[in-house]
Amino acid sequence: MLTALTRAVSPSIDRCQLSRMPRQAIDFARADAQHREYESYLRELGAAVISLEGEPEMPDSVFVEDPAVVLDEIAVIARMGADARRAETESVARALAKFRMLRCIGEPGTLEGGDVVRVETSFFVGLSERTNAAGIEQFAGFVEMFGYSVEAVPVTGCLHLKSACCYLGRETLLANRAWFDAAPLRRFRILDVAPEEPWAADVLAVGDAIVMPDSFPATRRILEREGFDVRAVDISELTKAEAGVTCMSLLFETTGPSAG
Ligand code: GLY
Repeated sequence: MLTALTRAVSPSIDRCQLSRMPRQAIDFARADAQHREYESYLRELGAAVISLEGEPEMPDSVFVEDPAVVLDEIAVIARMGADARRAETESVARALAKFRMLRCIGEPGTLEGGDVVRVETSFFVGLSERTNAAGIEQFAGFVEMFGYSVEAVPVTGCLHLKSACCYLGRETLLANRAWFDAAPLRRFRILDVAPEEPWAADVLAVGDAIVMPDSFPATRRILEREGFDVRAVDISELTKAEAGVTCMSLLFETTGPSAG
């Protein structure tokens, strides 16, 4: 069963980490409503949503993708590049331990799930402000034994690789190539975001559907022309905390009764 791990928006989200955007007031009730709508979309697309309790003292904790990477075989628990976010991993690890054996990135490594793009059995990991070479090396040590390959991808224009590049399925990626070195991905087909929508590459493939923010209509048309089934969701309030649709869930398959 497809399972989506999520976490309620923290009431302290307006104290979130920001790397590229100016700080703006965030309407918590609106952000929370948009997050619930996002969870409803995941349910509509067939996922069993496990929503973790909110963490009032962890402003960025709605971004559950960053503390872990889940494979069929194991879950890798991150050591987050942002010191202020390190405590987020504990409850995510507890939740994932019901489904997977855990492996943990250790000092001096840092790695955040937002930097990890998977294309079938190939992992491309952003070498970024949040993920360092030691973290990528440790990650490779955990996953290569299961037949996955791992390549580092220098990220220059955004926080995480997934802000610039996401896998759509069908050996095709959506990307803003101005923000990262696309050379390691050259064997795949790359669709470019519309030039006027540089933030549009962060999209979430759920089964055969592509979930994306409703604020990128030109890129949506590009995907629809290519035959992708696009579902647009309003995350405008969450975007003030630099949210993307990928970073608010961890998707993985489960077989056991723990998914709800
Ligand atoms: N606000 C998301 C992050 O900086 O990690």
